[in-house]
Amino acid sequence: MQGEILSLLREKKTYVSGQQLCEQFGVSRTAVWKAIEQLRKEGYQIRAVQNKGYILVEDKQEEHFNGAELASRMDTRWAAKKLFFYDTIDSTNTEAKRLGEEGAPDGTLVVADMQTAGKGRRGRGWISPAHTNVYFTLLLRPRFAPDKAAMLTLVIAHSMCRAVEEVTGLEAGIKWPNDIVVSGKKICGILTEMSVELNEIKYVVIGVGINVREQEFPEELREKAIALDTACGTRVDRTRLITAIMKAFEEDYEKFLQTVSLEGLQSSYEKRMVNCGKEVCVLDPKGEYRGIARGINETGELLVELPDGTIREVYAGEVSVRGIYGYV
Ligand code: BTN
Repeated sequence: MQGEILSLLREKKTYVSGQQLCEQFGVSRTAVWKAIEQLRKEGYQIRAVQNKGYILVEDKQEEHFNGAELASRMDTRWAAKKLFFYDTIDSTNTEAKRLGEEGAPDGTLVVADMQTAGKGRRGRGWISPAHTNVYFTLLLRPRFAPDKAAMLTLVIAHSMCRAVEEVTGLEAGIKWPNDIVVSGKKICGILTEMSVELNEIKYVVIGVGINVREQEFPEELREKAIALDTACGTRVDRTRLITAIMKAFEEDYEKFLQTVSLEGLQSSYEKRMVNCGKEVCVLDPKGEYRGIARGINETGELLVELPDGTIREVYAGEVSVRGIYGYV
């Protein structure tokens, strides 16, 4: 309800009486008062004047990053309608899986300001300091076969690319399969995990970490990582970023579900691919080889043209692809 009160006060821009809030949300005056107190604790300036009601005094410079703010600005039909926000959590992926086990619905979103045990791919960690970045995990309960789930990582990469462009005005690209690249450097990581029972998907969790505030990266990342603030020279609003990603994902996922393939997103994905038409080195455990990246197929495999003109389909799970002259 805090999110709903916040969006109502923001929309009205004038005094809203306690009575009106009670009626609108079907709750008692005490419940309204408690929600207002909670919002104040989160740092919102809400003035109360007798016989007039409540008014929100906004400071546009201040970043509010909390559950009420996210809920009040979420412009989706089903994604993130159920939303959990934590100041600190071990890992949003781990929490989303716990919620998945407890029956949380399709589209549940878990967001944290800080993670104490953030997880990266290949068993690595994901450094997750407070007040700096975006860490979220989306829980889905798709009905398709488990072997299709790997494509979801490409779907969300496409949505993130669109959202980053919309929010920052920067040109964003995708380095297949799921790195979002701005100014030639990586701004995020995606970790998709799945629970399967009797060969059916119980749930999938898609975890996203985005570098937002300017920061010192660990030595091994310094060359290839960048924060969005650094890339665009202004402070990026984390709530706006998350809400834009959710809106874009809702659209992209619905397109994906129509054929349970990337058919509907393929050309848009390829247009954004930074390594399309470039020479790449495929780090296949069976042997490294080079070729020209030509695009993706409907299942999200990378099409690599070999020197003899044949096309090889590269599955993301098995290999990594590097640019010949650097990260991209
Ligand atoms: C990678 O190694 O590139 C993937 C990193 C994914 C990090 C995100 S942060 C939010 C979510 N929770 C986690 O523990 N990991 C993912």
